[in-house]
Amino acid sequence: MITTSLRWGISGTRPLYRKAIQGRTSLLQRAYVSPTSRSPLATVAHEANQSSRVANDDQDHDAHPVSREEIFSRAIEGNWSERPANRPIYLDAQSTTPTDPRVLDAMLPFYINQYGNPHSRTHAYGWETETAAEQGRQHIAELIHADPKEVIFTSGATESNNMAIKGVARFYKAKKNHIITTQTEHKCVLDSCRALQEEGFEVTYLPVQSNGQINLDELKAALRPTTSIVSVMTVNNEIGVIQPIREIGHMLKTYGAELAKELGRGTPKPFFHTDGAQALGKIPIDVNDAGIDLMSMSSHKLYGPKGIGACYVRRRPRVRLEPIISGGGQERGLRSGTIATALAVGFGEAARLAKENMARISDTNLQYDHAHISALAKRLQDNITSRVEMVLLNGDPKGYPGCINLTFQYIEGESLLMALKDICLSSGSACTSASLEPSYVLRALGLDDANAHSSLRFGIGRFTTEQEIDFVCDKIVAVVNRLRELSPLWEMVQDGIDLKSIEWSG
Ligand SMILES: Cc1ncc(COP(=O)(O)O)c(C=O)c1O
Repeated sequence: MITTSLRWGISGTRPLYRKAIQGRTSLLQRAYVSPTSRSPLATVAHEANQSSRVANDDQDHDAHPVSREEIFSRAIEGNWSERPANRPIYLDAQSTTPTDPRVLDAMLPFYINQYGNPHSRTHAYGWETETAAEQGRQHIAELIHADPKEVIFTSGATESNNMAIKGVARFYKAKKNHIITTQTEHKCVLDSCRALQEEGFEVTYLPVQSNGQINLDELKAALRPTTSIVSVMTVNNEIGVIQPIREIGHMLKTYGAELAKELGRGTPKPFFHTDGAQALGKIPIDVNDAGIDLMSMSSHKLYGPKGIGACYVRRRPRVRLEPIISGGGQERGLRSGTIATALAVGFGEAARLAKENMARISDTNLQYDHAHISALAKRLQDNITSRVEMVLLNGDPKGYPGCINLTFQYIEGESLLMALKDICLSSGSACTSASLEPSYVLRALGLDDANAHSSLRFGIGRFTTEQEIDFVCDKIVAVVNRLRELSPLWEMVQDGIDLKSIEWSG
């Protein structure tokens, strides 16, 4: 029998609710929902202490303990077999990821029973939630090899990017007014830089090479004694390219520091900020080894809950920021506001699972994300490129495998998406108020508007299955072939006509 804690929680006579209000329940009944379908997947789990199970006429006798690992396995299997017929396949893992049921499991007590304000110092409700939130912080710090004191909770990577870039630039503005970033950053980085330009700062937007990586010589040439911060993302959200983070960190510590001395001894080197939203838990990151001073992180890209992120802010040598949110002085005074305990616990658990998972990065067992995702990525790419001609891979083949960006030449990406209603993907076009703009990231790689518009991003994640990949490939091949048959341009290409040589009238 399938029951949910929500149902139990709402009906006050049910055992969960009674147990919960009796306080300190170790028998929290929990519900799990398949990450990509809305149907309840598994029923209930009990906390370790089974012995104190409440005898109650209302007890659900079909309920049985389910371990987190079992719940996880069921979630993976259920992804395919329990999908309702009208639910599309989700291949948009860079947009967001489903919450891992094990993460939800860790969070639930903090929505029901342990609801104290983690900043309340005078009673046990505050102490227990503070301990839980700090444990979450510790897991995040361990994932990036940082000290927990260097992890500042925020609402997500957008806020962290704003906080880091605006915060550093404004703090050091008396001496330094120059910022460096790249043309392919996320909008929230680019817009933060634009906002700073309005305040009088100078910003260099570095171009990228055709594989999406920056050229380190160009970075070196752009550095000035007055450069306060360099912001280069670790993994790009559209093409999965991985930037040479270690090399950048090293350059700022050596050449950048030398330049800064021109402004007088004691002038800090340019700080290195990286937007790690798409990298956290996907590829190994060691902030010390890479010379990172600030890093933005987001929980919902990592199978954690939405609405929480963090900013790593180095303590030694200290990075100073002007906070963008003022208030009670929480989070080292850098980000005031009450920590959302359940979200912090969930983010922490997602980070803990990612670390555990990445420790097995070389393991060929497909249960582990990296092996699983790499195998599915290869399966998708091989399947499509062996059956469809004129497909280009955008970005660097050595990039993050879970983000595959393909151009299906001579087809309009939006028509492709319209014909693929049962698959959730992103296209190489972005909706602005009036029109469809070609993606600025693809344009920065050198793609023309037509090829940018003909591109799709396939985002593969922990819960994607082989069946889903095969279904998607069959669908793509059929739709691309059908659309090309209808396309006069495709016919001309088939006849050997060079489209660039045509002078179109009108
Ligand atoms: C690279 C990158 N940075 C920042 C963000 C924003 O993250 P959040 O949704 O946590 O604000 C995203 C999400 O789309 C992203 O992919």
